[in-house]
Amino acid sequence: MSDSISQPTAQAVARCAELTKQLNYHNKQYYLLDQPEISDAEYDRLFQELKKLEDTYSSLRVSSSPTQRVGEAPLSAFESVVHEMPMLSLDNAFNEDDMVAFDKRIKDRLKSDETLEYSCEPKFDGIAVSLLYRMGTLERGATRGDGASGENITQNVRTIGSIPLQLAGEEIPAVLEVRGEIFMPKAGFEKLNKRAAEKGEKPFVNPRNAAAGSLRQLDSAITASRPLVMCAYNVGYVEGELPKTHSQILSCLKEWGFIVSEELKVVAGVEGCLDYYRQLEQRRGALAYDIDGIVFKINSIPLQQQLGFVSRAPRWAIAHKFPAQEEMTTLNGVEFQVGRTGAITPVARLQPVFVGGVTVSNATLHNRDEIERLGVCVGDTVVVRRAGDVIPQIVAVVPSKITSSLKAIEFPQHCPVCSSPVETAPGEVVARCSGGLICEAQRKEAIKHFASRQAMDVDGLGDKLVEQLVDAGLVKQIADLFTVPKDKLAALERMAEKSADNLLAALNKSKNTTLPRFLFALGIREVGQATARNLAQHFGKLDNIIHADTDALQLVDDVGPVVAHFVYEFFRQNENLQAVDDLKKAGINWEEKEPVEVAELPLVGQTWVLTGTLETMARDEAKEKLQALGAKVAGSVSAKTYCVVAGPGAGSKLAKAEKLEVNVMDEAAFVQFLGAFE
Ligand code: IVH
Repeated sequence: MSDSISQPTAQAVARCAELTKQLNYHNKQYYLLDQPEISDAEYDRLFQELKKLEDTYSSLRVSSSPTQRVGEAPLSAFESVVHEMPMLSLDNAFNEDDMVAFDKRIKDRLKSDETLEYSCEPKFDGIAVSLLYRMGTLERGATRGDGASGENITQNVRTIGSIPLQLAGEEIPAVLEVRGEIFMPKAGFEKLNKRAAEKGEKPFVNPRNAAAGSLRQLDSAITASRPLVMCAYNVGYVEGELPKTHSQILSCLKEWGFIVSEELKVVAGVEGCLDYYRQLEQRRGALAYDIDGIVFKINSIPLQQQLGFVSRAPRWAIAHKFPAQEEMTTLNGVEFQVGRTGAITPVARLQPVFVGGVTVSNATLHNRDEIERLGVCVGDTVVVRRAGDVIPQIVAVVPSKITSSLKAIEFPQHCPVCSSPVETAPGEVVARCSGGLICEAQRKEAIKHFASRQAMDVDGLGDKLVEQLVDAGLVKQIADLFTVPKDKLAALERMAEKSADNLLAALNKSKNTTLPRFLFALGIREVGQATARNLAQHFGKLDNIIHADTDALQLVDDVGPVVAHFVYEFFRQNENLQAVDDLKKAGINWEEKEPVEVAELPLVGQTWVLTGTLETMARDEAKEKLQALGAKVAGSVSAKTYCVVAGPGAGSKLAKAEKLEVNVMDEAAFVQFLGAFE
């Protein structure tokens, strides 16, 4: 380092202050809710510029500089520190009755019947810390420990971008203990685990464990590399004046440089608390970080002081817990399901357990690698996680002392449905049944897909009915759907004459289709709706696609070597060509077109939005027509939207379009507009 003792110029001092401000700001954007405004490279550029200035004028390098956050000397061990004021825990409420009882207890104690004001905020699922600031400078950071004393983790907390090294602003108390939670946002956690997996390291079970593990590092450079955030939620020991409500204290903390919850809200009475709870529980899954409940605190500090504490928890606060998203249970067995493309998915059969608000008795084990990674056996105690609408998963195995009752999970060598060999293609993790459409499981899934709404859209032909048709031997190939006699249909369970008539009518109606729908319905691997549309647009006619080689296929938008390979191979198999022929013979038809270059389509580059109800055509049909003309159809309006088609009942999207002065068409104008292209 070329340290200099020369006096910094006024310009250098000003630039240093500006860079410090910018870096602190971007640190915050990056760590808070993962919303960086500048690229990593841009951040590095600012960082390096500051570092160079500090190297030139060493007096500019202060300990609170953003350059001083990383790469501090490894600690030999964490020493113990005594908190200036003990760190308390919280009582829990598990239902609305507990909350009502909590509110009543307070009123009884205060001998008052007035509605109480509560401050509400999420209960972060991380690690509690206490930060001691003297004259606004961070002096010490400590874990909660036993509440009275914790571990000194100053070196590590100093690397966390959202923890100010120096408080800025007015009326900062001379001594201030700030309490808060350090956690890892979900996105950062996913990235960290992905990196761990790539390096063959053991991933963390959940963001909380990852945060704890990252803080407990003796080398603070490791902590610095982890995406940690701290949210302040309280104060401990204070020498100086603070406002008289909890919410105002948090506002001060925010002004001085801390992150406080964006969800912070003051409500009236227990009713207000319950509303807040329900509202945030709905959005729990959409938050950028894990929370395990809501913390309600009496907002008035004088009332808090009057209420005081019982043993280790304040009387004036409570944590209303959400149903746990992780629970332990026993793995009773594993079944292997066969999907549409033959993929074999191990499904865990569990001792039923209440988790994430529902009783769970099955969970996915994804694939063979996942079973190995977890090292799970039948009979093990496992941690099951169910978050939001996500399929329940097994995230960890609890080490067992008694291993004699455990049974290893054997991945099948042959398909459990058709007995064809199970194969794993080179470079793939997924094992597949090689039986193709010989396999009844694959056939069922293929037929379900064929009939589904985005494919041939056969109204009334749901998954259950497909299973019945295949099980009864009425449908062996997809084309058989169109020849099942009415009396056989009507004789199926839960079917009758009328429903059979309806199904036949729906099957008939589905015969008039489009090439993109038909292509998608064939269920070619990796050919989703968008690829099917691009293929159809590019080649115009099915025969052109059937005869295209992989080079020709790769000329299509978004078709790379993998998709081209799957399409090419699909049409090299006689059974598939036969199936296409049979379907055409059954009456399936579409309009064949001349091949077009996408760039020639009239609406290329335009984004349209459909909102409200359309009366002369279905929303899907309108969407397809626009896409066939090259437009993109989006779900929300932005300044980039080219035009909004608004039917009756259009609401916020129409309002937004008007605000942004985006073109708006009613249905009549839209129909006329489409007519011009026919
Ligand atoms: S206030 C005296 N607010 O929950 C009040 N705690 O058992 C002290 N926690 O380990 C706690 N989010 O780390 C409070 N918004 C929040 C919180 C919160 C998470 C944790 C805290 C403590 C535990 C309480």
